[in-house]
Amino acid sequence: MTATLIDGAAVASSLVRRIAALTSDFTATTGRKPGLSVCIVGDDAASGVYVRAKEKRAGEAGFDSRVIRKDAALSQAELLQSVEALNADESVDGILVQLPLPKGLQERAVIEAIDPHKDVDGFHTENSGKLLCGIADGFVPCTPFGCLHLLRHHFARQGESLAGKRALVLGRSNIVGKPMALLLLAEHATLSIAHSRTRDLPALCREAEVLVAAVGRANFVQGDWIREGAVVIDVGINRDQNQNQGRLVGDVDFPEAKKKAAAITPVPGGVGPMTIAMLLWNTLVSAHRRSGLPPPCLEAEEEKN
Ligand code: GUN
Repeated sequence: MTATLIDGAAVASSLVRRIAALTSDFTATTGRKPGLSVCIVGDDAASGVYVRAKEKRAGEAGFDSRVIRKDAALSQAELLQSVEALNADESVDGILVQLPLPKGLQERAVIEAIDPHKDVDGFHTENSGKLLCGIADGFVPCTPFGCLHLLRHHFARQGESLAGKRALVLGRSNIVGKPMALLLLAEHATLSIAHSRTRDLPALCREAEVLVAAVGRANFVQGDWIREGAVVIDVGINRDQNQNQGRLVGDVDFPEAKKKAAAITPVPGGVGPMTIAMLLWNTLVSAHRRSGLPPPCLEAEEEKN
């Protein structure tokens, strides 16, 4: 079997086009643009690349997109003050503080300082709690939200759904693994979560009809761990140290896995572009809620694709 590629770049572009159209309606109705403010502290190179990509896409979608750059020597109190200023700014619908923060700054305290109604990252405990309880008026973290969108898109094309499928999430981070597991459960998948202490990981992987890999280790998942006909979502973005110039690779050994899987996301061009699209979606939803308008419906937009 040779896997079909799940083209995240194409799915994301199509969603961003819809977001741009909805943004134009929103701006015509309210006389303002959805506002997204991204705060970056220090000069981490990878974070710089991600933030520039977010800024560019938000501008293209018609948002009022701002980046606040702070020196790595910023104190915790100064960072909290910046967050408070964004909370109080009526023109800001979405706030994102890029992680990781430089040493000495406490990420959890910063996340909890963000107004949960503007927490378009979905990292605040109020939003995590809503996801856990299935309360729909919170925000879902963008990377697992993007993975879910790709899975729904893939299965809808097959006339199938996630319901009843054996799904395995590799990784248990607050940003990806845990929310991904909750989203799959909400779609009625039969769920397992694996992590660094899991015994006989290859055997567990071979049972998975849907495999989401989010471990942050280059080519960690071997081709012979993949079940024949599985759908594989690769969240990893790693530099392959064995390749010249350290090209980007995922958590899954792509050339081998694609011989076994029915469908797989490439790296780059899979989950990465979806993460940004979902950030724009969350910000657009926030802008509608904060303006007292009914938010757009993702399922309805998915049907238009
Ligand atoms: N760093 C890597 N991914 C993310 C993300 O989705 N949100 C934030 N705030 N920081 C990140």
